[in-house]
Amino acid sequence: MTGPVLRSHVIGCGSYLPENIVTNAELAAKVDTSDEWIRTRTGIRQRHIAAPGEKTSDLAVKAALAALANAGATADDIDMVVVATTTPDLTFPSVGTIVQRKLGMTRGFAFDVQAVCAGFIYAMSVADNFIKAGQAKSALVIGADTMSRILDWTDRTTCVLFGDGAGAVVLNAGEGGGTSEDRGVLNTVLFSDGRLHDLLYVDSGPSTNQSVGFIRMQGKEVFKHAVTNIAASVEASAAAAGVPVSAIDWFVPHQANQRILDGTAKKLKVDASRVVSTVALHGNTSAASVPLALSTAVADGRIQRGQLVLMEALGAGMTWGACLLRW
Ligand code: UT7
Repeated sequence: MTGPVLRSHVIGCGSYLPENIVTNAELAAKVDTSDEWIRTRTGIRQRHIAAPGEKTSDLAVKAALAALANAGATADDIDMVVVATTTPDLTFPSVGTIVQRKLGMTRGFAFDVQAVCAGFIYAMSVADNFIKAGQAKSALVIGADTMSRILDWTDRTTCVLFGDGAGAVVLNAGEGGGTSEDRGVLNTVLFSDGRLHDLLYVDSGPSTNQSVGFIRMQGKEVFKHAVTNIAASVEASAAAAGVPVSAIDWFVPHQANQRILDGTAKKLKVDASRVVSTVALHGNTSAASVPLALSTAVADGRIQRGQLVLMEALGAGMTWGACLLRW
């Protein structure tokens, strides 16, 4: 496809992590685990946990304000807010509309996207398609989760893995020539397979038992699907843009486990130095993990204007996908 096309340009990004840091050693005092097990099996050293009363929308708003400041924009400039989350403040309304109110927005529209750990990729895809369709000129895309609220703190197989946080980007409609040389989102690829439900799910919900429930996971099985499906989605995204995987400057993966990051990079023959990793410091922050990692690598100067950036994630559902963009 060539000729003038609408592209979603990322004009700013930002993130927020709750103040309270919980180390592996602190967890080992509560459940039968060890710093050594957590580090060698996952790469995680610590995670941030939201304070009592601190809600997903609070994290989302702080990340949004950081992203808006980074973009040199204000909430008044935003046409749509899309929040990827699986831990909303309330069953309804959406975190999106709560964020809209807290940002003081009096126009536009806001909603949530629920694809668990793949949520930010899904939300980017939704916002990019609204922009390409001309229905919005700017979008605030947020990934925010307080996974600590749905952890069974007596289950050592899950409670050591997750953390809380939020990340956000501001998208603006821009023009491109329709080639992979364009700035902005070049493509998004999304996949899901509902048959894989039992590998990772929360065991309650409003229409099941009027409750919130806890995360249940078959870790080993999720791990296998993660490496295979993420590698396939990276290849699908690169192929759709007509670029080889080797041309991608930065990989910004969902941060679930350092061994998944390493296994995927090895499968794709990508050098580890091009993979952004924050899992040691953040743990798995679900929908927040990709924009948190992105913000980290932008803030420290690794990601530079004109470079190709590939974001990817896999989560419960199962859901997975990738988003390729030129910074
Ligand atoms: O965001 C997307 C969703 N999540 C993921 O992508 C996570 C994918 N899965 C994983 O990251 C890994 O499978 C885990 C980190 C969850 C587990 O690592 P593993 O190497 O697959 O370990 P395992 O589940 O096979 O467990 C090995 C052993 C077991 O003991 P036995 O049966 O060998 O005696 C577990 O009971 O480790 C034990 N174990 C623990 N030991 C100490 C499980 N959790 C812990 C723990 N501390 N926290």
